Amino acid sequence: MLSTLMVVNTAWSADLPPREKFKRPSSIPSPLSNPLTLEKATLGKTLFFDQRLSRSGGMACATCHSPDQRWSDGRSLPLQAESVNNARRTPTVLNSAWLSALMWDGRAATLEAQAVLPITTAHEMNFDLTSLVERLQKIQGYRALFTQAFGDHNINQQRITQALASFQRTLVSNQAPFDRWVEGDEQAISEQAKRGFAVFNNKDKANCVACHSSWRFTDDSFHDIGLPSKDLGRGAKVPAQVTLMQHAFKTPSLRDLPMEGPYMHDGSLRGLKAVIKHYKSGAIQRDSLSKDMQKFELSELEESELIAFIQSLDGGALNIQPPAMPE
Ligand code: HEC
Ligand code: HEC
Repeated sequence: MLSTLMVVNTAWSADLPPREKFKRPSSIPSPLSNPLTLEKATLGKTLFFDQRLSRSGGMACATCHSPDQRWSDGRSLPLQAESVNNARRTPTVLNSAWLSALMWDGRAATLEAQAVLPITTAHEMNFDLTSLVERLQKIQGYRALFTQAFGDHNINQQRITQALASFQRTLVSNQAPFDRWVEGDEQAISEQAKRGFAVFNNKDKANCVACHSSWRFTDDSFHDIGLPSKDLGRGAKVPAQVTLMQHAFKTPSLRDLPMEGPYMHDGSLRGLKAVIKHYKSGAIQRDSLSKDMQKFELSELEESELIAFIQSLDGGALNIQPPAMPE
C-alpha cells in the first residue's frame, strides 16, 4: 500500500523538465549600436513619462504602459482605440530587452524602431518626430539630460528612441517565488504549484510549455490559438499561403500577469480559469490553428494547481516612481 502511494505521489515529478531551462539570465542584453548606460536610461525614463511626447500634450508612454498596471493599462483595448478596426490590447513592456520581435504581429524588430510607432500613430500620441524634436529643444531642462546621456545637448530622433529603448531595457521582472525554486529553494513554492508546473509541461495534459517556454515563458514565436477575433495578426504581414501565420499572434510572457486579465491580443478573456477553458476545448478549428493546440482534460484539482504555478511567476510590481518633469 505504502509503495503504491509513493508511486502516485511522485509520478508527476517525472514530467518536470530540468529547472535550468527556466533559469533567469544574469545580465540585460543591449545592441552594440546602443549600449545600455544609466544616463541613457535616466533620460529615457523622463521621456517615457512625459506627456509632451504626444501632440495634445496629454498622453505619455506611461499612460498606456503604467507601472501600477504591470506596465500595461488594465484595459481590454487602449484609450482612444475603441473605434479602431482590429485594435489590440496593450502588452506589457516588462522584459522587453529580450524581445526578438515586437508588437503582437512582430512588425517592429527592435525597441529603437518600435518607439517611433506610438509617437506617430494617429489614435495614440498622434505626433511627428520633427515637431517633437523642436518641442523638446525648447525645454531647457532636457539639455542636461541629453548631455549626460550622449555627450552634448543635441536632440534628434535617434537619441530619443535610443533613450526610450534604454529605459525599457531596465524594466526587468523582480525575482518570483518560482525563480527561487529554480535556484534550489524547495520551500519557495507550494507542492500545489510544483504539481501545476508538471501539468504545464505534460504533453498529454496542458502542454502549455510547447509555446510558453524559457525563463520568460514564451518561444518568441507566433501562433493561432483559435480565438474568434477577425484580426489576422501576423497573417496580414505575410503572404496568404503562409497558412500557419493567419490569425497568429506573438506568444506573450506569463510572468507578472495581472491575475484577472484582460488577456490576449484583443483583451477578450478575463481570469485564468477562462484562459484554461479556452485551451481545453474552446479553440476554433481552422487550417491555421497551431498543431500544439490539442484538446485536453484537466481535473478541477489539476486546474487549480496550474493556476497556482502561474501565480508563482509573479514577482510583484516594480517600485519605480515617475520622475520630475524638466521645465
Ligand atoms: C494609447 C496607448 C499606448 C501608448 C500611448 C503607447 N503604447 Fe506601446 N503599445 C500599445 C499597444 C496597443 C501595443 C500593441 C500594438 C500592436 O501590437 O499592434 C503597444 C506595444 C508596445 C511595445 C511592444 C511590446 C511587445 O511585447 O511587443 C512596446 C515596446 C511599446 N508599446 C512601447 C511604447 C513606448 C516607448 C511608448 C511611448 C513612446 C508607447 N508604447 C506608447 C499601446 C500604447
Ligand atoms: C500553440 C501555442 C500555445 C500553447 C500550446 C499555449 N499558449 Fe498561451 N498563448 C499563446 C499565444 C500565441 C497567445 C496570444 C494569443 C492571442 O492573443 O491571439 C497566448 C496567450 C496566453 C495568455 C494571455 C497572456 C496575455 O498577456 O494576454 C495566457 C494567460 C496563456 N496564453 C496561458 C497558457 C496556458 C495556461 C497554456 C496551457 C494550457 C497555454 N497558454 C498554451 C500560445 C500558446
